[in-house]
Amino acid sequence: MSSYPTILVFDSGLGGLTVLREIVKARPDAHYIYAADDAFFPYGAHSEDALIARVVPLIGELIAAHAPDLVVIACNTASTLVLSHLRAQYRVPFVGTVPAIKPACARSTTKRVSVLGTSGTVKREYTHALIRDFAQSCTVTLVGSAHLASLAEAALGGAAIADREILAEIAPCFVDNADAALRTDAVVLACTHYPLLLERMIALAPWPVAWIDPAPAIARRVADLLGPAGGEPDHAGAEMIFTSGRTHPLTGALAPYFGGRVLA
Ligand code: DGL
Repeated sequence: MSSYPTILVFDSGLGGLTVLREIVKARPDAHYIYAADDAFFPYGAHSEDALIARVVPLIGELIAAHAPDLVVIACNTASTLVLSHLRAQYRVPFVGTVPAIKPACARSTTKRVSVLGTSGTVKREYTHALIRDFAQSCTVTLVGSAHLASLAEAALGGAAIADREILAEIAPCFVDNADAALRTDAVVLACTHYPLLLERMIALAPWPVAWIDPAPAIARRVADLLGPAGGEPDHAGAEMIFTSGRTHPLTGALAPYFGGRVLA
């Protein structure tokens, strides 16, 4: 590996930028390729078979084209399904993004945790196994959102999103109880798009909860695998690829996610 590793960050759309921004902080010296499969967005709407058939060869093409040192699947909907297939097929190390159920349950004092993800992620056997293995004594409520990822994309693109649209998606996370000591106090952000709306969700929440975003932990995992940063921060650029073929200027809205890099 050269002193400047190439890291490929992959998502169905722009949600993986919330993971990218943490990785860039941990490895400011790396080259970044951000690939968004926007031609197939949203992943939450596709069957498991269709997603496996789509993502596994697509990642193979990206590996062949860019020779990354490490690939981050910055998408829960894909990671909970295709990680084992990717690891079986390609030699490059993969880091996935899966629902942060263990840390959420450890953090909860009411032992009432909700997992907010796409309808695909909350149905996955992988997610159910995480609950069986790590929820300990917590009651976990799975909330599958059909629209929140698309709302987050639209908001990032500058569209005005009404409070009621966001509230309708997050409301089922808040399991109430006359006794405040028995109501939900932690919500797992089990889709990388959702941190894009975090401030809105905090403001709209019927009561305060801990919002659990695994992105910093994913960045630590990447840094552990690649070793400590070496050399100067790479301001030479980063690449952004959209499978639809569109080009996206690095607008003011996206620049912070790339640590201020200029896109090639
Ligand atoms: N960002 C993806 C995730 O973490 C999902 C968005 C989609 O449905 O495509 O699950």
